[in-house]
Amino acid sequence: IYRKATPTTLPSFLLIGPSGAGKTAFLTLTERKVVAQTHTSTAPLAIEVLLPEDHTPQSSHYRSPGDPAYERSRRFLLNDTPGHGKLRHFATTQLANPTNVRGIIFVVDAATVAEEAGLNETAEYLHDVLLALQKRYTGATTSKGPKEIPVLIAANKMDLFTALPPHLVTQQLEKAISEVRQSRAKGLKDSGAALSGEEEGLDEEREWLGEGGEGNFEFGQMEEVGTTVTVHGGHVIGGDGADVKGWYEWIASHL
Ligand code: GTP
Ligand code: MG
Repeated sequence: IYRKATPTTLPSFLLIGPSGAGKTAFLTLTERKVVAQTHTSTAPLAIEVLLPEDHTPQSSHYRSPGDPAYERSRRFLLNDTPGHGKLRHFATTQLANPTNVRGIIFVVDAATVAEEAGLNETAEYLHDVLLALQKRYTGATTSKGPKEIPVLIAANKMDLFTALPPHLVTQQLEKAISEVRQSRAKGLKDSGAALSGEEEGLDEEREWLGEGGEGNFEFGQMEEVGTTVTVHGGHVIGGDGADVKGWYEWIASHL
């Protein structure tokens, strides 16, 4: 289908992740330098923001501050999406047509993923986001393949003592995503009675995230489909104020 180009050509980053992870809090912090009280989001929200002064956009490493091109290169759009299970179509719509998207910031509540229920909910959502990126890549018709879309897993709420450290967030999510992958494959098999063996096999392959075989899912497997996954810890509130330097550095490296 033909779509009109969006009026803005600013590079954008998509904020995705379960409800309560801190997406809107991070958006507010970036926009106003202070965190205001947030409420659960019911609609997407795109806001034009500036990369903070102490980070340099990748594209401007050889420019001097004061150069108008340097100032322009610090501008980007942050696209906040609602994380509630019934409102995720807003995020998936943006994923399906990622115009000017330089990266996806998947925000995780590092304390919630210390508990099984929270871990599973987060892993399911992340699985679906990564699978959408994989399908976009493997389904591309151009020989060059589509533009790479990196993913930052922003392990938020590190100020809480119940938060898992980033390396454990990584491990636990990889393990839980392996289980989601397994149960989705089983679901597909059980519902595939109407399909011929060949169709069923194809379908299973398309819906399988990452490498096949017996091993566990690892984020590194996404490299093959044009997605580098990086995990950085941080916190938007708490402690001695926000610590989101790692996230801004990641944004800077894709700006
Ligand atoms: P939805 O809009 O429902 O998808 O959630 P969201 O991801 O936008 O969450 P939001 O930014 O509204 O934050 C949810 C709650 O977590 C709020 O009460 C925030 O104040 C709190 N919060 C956000 N970041 C942090 C953090 O770094 N540490 C702590 N302790 N709380 C945080
Ligand atoms: Mg929100």
